[in-house]
Amino acid sequence: MVSINYDSNCDREVLILRVAIGSDHGGFNLKLEIMNYLKEQNIEYHDFGTYSTESVDYPDFAAAVAGAIAGGEFKRGILCCGTGIGVSIAANKVSGIRAALCHDTFSARMAGEHNMANIITLGERVIGPGLARDIVGAWLGAKFAGGRHARRLEKITALESE
Ligand code: RB5
Repeated sequence: MVSINYDSNCDREVLILRVAIGSDHGGFNLKLEIMNYLKEQNIEYHDFGTYSTESVDYPDFAAAVAGAIAGGEFKRGILCCGTGIGVSIAANKVSGIRAALCHDTFSARMAGEHNMANIITLGERVIGPGLARDIVGAWLGAKFAGGRHARRLEKITALESE
C-alpha cells in the first residue's frame, strides 16, 4: 500500500486525496491500468475522459484535469497520452500547474520531493503497465523537501505573471 504524503503536496485539511485523471485515445489503456492501481490503493479518483480509444485531441483532456487542479477541486492529477509529452505541454500552460513527464521511478520521486509536481504525465506507447504503477506510487508517496526547492517553486510561480 502506498503511503501518501498529505502534508506537503496537499493541504493539511485534505484528509481524503482525490486524484483527477485523464487521457486521450493514445493513453486510454494506460489510464485504465492506473485507475485499477488507484482503486487497489483505496485512492479516490475522477475520470475526466476520454472514455474510449476513438481519436480525440489531447489538449482537451489536459485542460480538463489541469483546470480541476488549478480551480482547487483536486490536489493531484494524472494524464496519459501516447508519449506523455502532449498532455504535459498542454497542462503546463495552465497557471498553477506543475506537470512532470515521468517514465522512471527516480524522476517520479524527484517530481514530488523537489518540484512538488501536482500532475504527472505518462506515455502508453513508452512504458508498460507495471512500471506505470510504480511511477504513480513513487510520486504519490514522495514528500516535498521544501527549503531551497520552495524558493525555486516561488520563482516558477513568478514566471506565470511575467
Ligand atoms: C496521438 O496520436 C498522440 O499524438 C498523442 O497521444 C500524444 O502522444 C501526443 O503527445
